[in-house]
Amino acid sequence: MKIAILPGDGIGTEIVAEAVKVLNVLDLKFETESALVGGAAYEAHGHPLPESTLKLAKEADAVLFGAVGDWKYDKLDRPLRPEQAILGLRKNLGLFANFRPAICYEQLVGASSLKPELIAGLDILIIRELTGDIYFGQPRGRRTAVDGHFPGTEEAFDTMRYSRPEVERIAHVAFQAARKRSKRVTSVDKANVLETFQFWKDIVTEVGQQYPDVELDHMYVDNAAMQLVKAPKKFDVVVTGNMFGDILSDEAAMLTGSIGMLPSASLNSSNQGLYEPSHGSAPDIAGKGIANPLATILSAAMMLRFSLNQAEAADRIESAVKSVLAAGLRTVDIYSEGTTKVSTREMGDAVVAAITKTTIKG
Ligand code: IPM
Ligand code: MG
Repeated sequence: MKIAILPGDGIGTEIVAEAVKVLNVLDLKFETESALVGGAAYEAHGHPLPESTLKLAKEADAVLFGAVGDWKYDKLDRPLRPEQAILGLRKNLGLFANFRPAICYEQLVGASSLKPELIAGLDILIIRELTGDIYFGQPRGRRTAVDGHFPGTEEAFDTMRYSRPEVERIAHVAFQAARKRSKRVTSVDKANVLETFQFWKDIVTEVGQQYPDVELDHMYVDNAAMQLVKAPKKFDVVVTGNMFGDILSDEAAMLTGSIGMLPSASLNSSNQGLYEPSHGSAPDIAGKGIANPLATILSAAMMLRFSLNQAEAADRIESAVKSVLAAGLRTVDIYSEGTTKVSTREMGDAVVAAITKTTIKG
């Protein structure tokens, strides 16, 4: 087993270091190799996703990714911006299935901006298609308009598109995931306006016929955005396109009050995957030792479960995280009165200690 470690920018290096520490204490056989990505790679090699980094990621069984980006790169040409690294990895590795769980940890109910009763016990899984849609559709660019409201003026355009196989495969992923949960899928679209998403809805419905045991419903994206804050617990598995999934997954993450807690997985058809926290590089708090490493540690658990076939080790990480929360340890983002404020490293150490304890107990 080989894991590519790509810490990236901002808090990325700090939180990935804690996750690696946790992986190392599990006594599993794997090889790791680190590489630069994002702004860090741009500084060193002039490109956010250097050939060598891409090669390493392709060869590895899994990629543990921190975060990329910093405002200081916002003025670079688009192909050189840090975000292109993550888009390039998704595209080149074919990571079409993005799993973004939004789980509200019992001890953190108070951290949400919603009333505790709305989110206590929340456990949603957003499945976002990750390599298609308007993110990757061609053509795109700028040109002089030949029609529209202002012919002859400058315009910009992107292309929203999905092919049948792209929708079919993500629909299968969603129905299969739902079978392991409460057997409900909500497909989110904008079929009332967009051709692409009428197509999406038709195909998800078709694929759904192969899963008669799974209940399928459809919701327009604007309504889904509203229902997520009104009655989030009504959702179980949500499947949607790349752009809607980008937006709704941030919304869902924030419902739990702790985006610093949420892991994510992006898989291709051979279960090779990229694992990263749902949050970004947070350059404003980088280097201060206060970032929450738990989302990355939980991403490492997802990696063990999905790509490395080590479900038991994944369970051990997840229960260790629950036990440090139960013990009242909190990084500043999830701190509340009566709990103990800890640094990034102290949080990582506590998880390691919790794992070692369960090892001794057997
Ligand atoms: C995400 C991020 C990325 C996206 C950016 C950094 C390109 O927002 O993973 O949700 O839009 O997909
Ligand atoms: Mg996003």
